[in-house]
Parts: sequence; C-alpha cells; structure tokens
Amino acid sequence: MIEQINQIRVEAHSQIFSAPDPDALDRLRVHYMGKKGVLTTLLHQLKELTPEKRREMGAVLNEVKTNVERDLKQRQTELKRVVLDKEISSSGSADVSLPGHFAINSGSLHPISLVMNDIVQILKRIGFSVVTGPEVELEFYNFEALNTPEDHPARDMQDTFYINPPVLLRSHTSPVQIRTMKDKKPPIQIIAPGKVYRSDYDLTHTPMFHQIEGLMVDENLSLADLKGVLNYLIKNLFGTKTLRFRPSFFPFTEPSAEVDMQCIQCKGKGCRLCKSTGWLEIGGCGMVHPNVFKSVNYDSEKYSGFAFGMGIERIAMLKYGIDDLRSFFENDIRMLEQF
Ligand code: DAH
Repeated sequence: MIEQINQIRVEAHSQIFSAPDPDALDRLRVHYMGKKGVLTTLLHQLKELTPEKRREMGAVLNEVKTNVERDLKQRQTELKRVVLDKEISSSGSADVSLPGHFAINSGSLHPISLVMNDIVQILKRIGFSVVTGPEVELEFYNFEALNTPEDHPARDMQDTFYINPPVLLRSHTSPVQIRTMKDKKPPIQIIAPGKVYRSDYDLTHTPMFHQIEGLMVDENLSLADLKGVLNYLIKNLFGTKTLRFRPSFFPFTEPSAEVDMQCIQCKGKGCRLCKSTGWLEIGGCGMVHPNVFKSVNYDSEKYSGFAFGMGIERIAMLKYGIDDLRSFFENDIRMLEQF
C-alpha cells in the first residue's frame, strides 16, 4: 500500500500542476478526491488493515490528501489568472477593479484647502456662489475701481508685485468684486476664493497667500446683514458666535471695520494666542463705498451692499493650532499627513 500511496503523491503533484485548464483540473479533483476517487478508495481500505498498520497508513494517507487539496487550490488560482489574462488580451481592455500589486499611500488635502473648502461650503448653504478672477490683474480692478487713490501706500512697488504697469499680481481678492459687478446686475451674492501676492516676507508674511472675498449687493442691505452673515460663518467654522467689529479704514468700504472673534483658546480671558486681548482678528469688512458703485455704473441711491475679506492662512492657523506660517509652504509630508 505504501508504494501505491507514494506513487499517487508524485503523480498527483505533477498532474495537477500540468492541468491545462479548469475543466482538466476538476477532472483530477474527482479522480483523486471524489467519492470513488483513488484516495477515497484507499481510505476505505484502511479498515482491512491491522490497527498498527492502519494508524501508520492513515497518517501517510492523510498527509498526501492534504497536499493534494493544497495543490488543487493553488493550481486553481493560477488557472483563474491564466483565463483572466487571456480574456484581457483578447478583449484589449483591463479589469480596473482588480486589486493592485502595490499599496499606494493615499494623499490628503492641504490644510489651506480644507479651510477654504469649509468656508465655501458654509457660505454656499446661505446662497453665496463661487466666482473666480485672474491672479494677473490690471491696476484698474485691483486699485482704481476700488476707490484706492494713486498715492495710496498699497500701490507702492514695495508692496505690490508689478509685472509691467498697469499689469500686476493681484494684492487681494477684492478686484473680483469689480469684475462681478461689471458683468452682472444686482442682486449679487458671491464669494471669491484664491491666491494673492504681496512683496512681503518674514515670520508672519509670505509673498503668496490665500484670501476669500465676499460681496452681496441688493436693495436695502445693511450692516446688520453683514453681521448676520459673518456670525453664521464663524459659528459654523469655530463654534463661537461672539464677534467684535472694530472701526477701521478700507478705501472701498464706508463704514469699514475689522472683525475679531472671541479667542477660541481662552474664551476671552486672555492668553498667549490672543496676546492677552481675548480677541483674534479674522478679516476686514464694510459697506460698499458709493465710489465703487459708481465705477461699475450701479445706482448707489438704489442699491447697497457689503463686502468682506479674510486671510485663509490666518484662519487655518487658528483652526488647527499651527503657530508657524511657513509650515504651510514647506511641504513637509510629516506635517501635511496629519490632516
Ligand atoms: N482687501 C482687503 C485686504 O486685503 C480685505 C478686505 C477688507 C476686503 C474689507 C473687503 C472689505 O471686501 O470690505 O486687506
């Protein structure tokens, strides 16, 4: 019997691995493991042996059976692959749903994109639509139409990147206000996210950064509407509703204000983050200046509007507790993969 078993061991292995297709393999499975298969028959014959012989042969037979089962399984996987390869090469297409051979690390969004997306989603919910404008801009849109006089310090070569006057890199997203109003009649309710450029580089300034601009124009809009929108935004972004409007100056709004929110870390008590003031500055805003309406041929007797602008890096730093502006631009994967 042992010779017979050993012969089966050798034969089965070589036959299984030379089976040309799944059908042939299945015939081999029946031949060895089926009800009347070679191995099954031998197992039945164990009964006729003496107890010691039975134990001895039983062990050998079981081992062979396990090997045959394993070989059948392995060959089945190989043949499946062969069949698939044939199908793919004859149809000329690949099965893109098959798992790949290598694990690929998935990327994640940059914290600036995350904050930008959040703000956009929140404001879209109350009716704002997203518009964009060019980063290479004309003095007219960046300054003149925004009521910023020729001698305003922001127009200085030291602050603004001029390509070739009057062509420049926009120093804020506010020119998108002008482009939108020149294009469309009120009512207007837009946000304009994007990159802006200033000739500035130190611990808290980078020559390129991100802003989001908001503009709403209609009949009878007031400061109360502006406050409502910003309250809603900050409540949804940071969970705090406590804002403070500090009178300020921007050429394109009157009145103008800077917006502070209550410090998210100390809740107004005073800490290092808010430099003991209890407040964090988050942007500028105001009611659209009549001269701005004039430059786009809007009747400032009939329409009123408000605008706001915020620095995204600033908000991302507050939201994620990042204290070094430069870490946004170093592209250190260890920092970025945390988001
Ligand atoms: N454009 C201003 C800046 O870059 C921010 C700003 C302030 C935008 C007030 C506005 C606004 O729309 O009303 O500093």
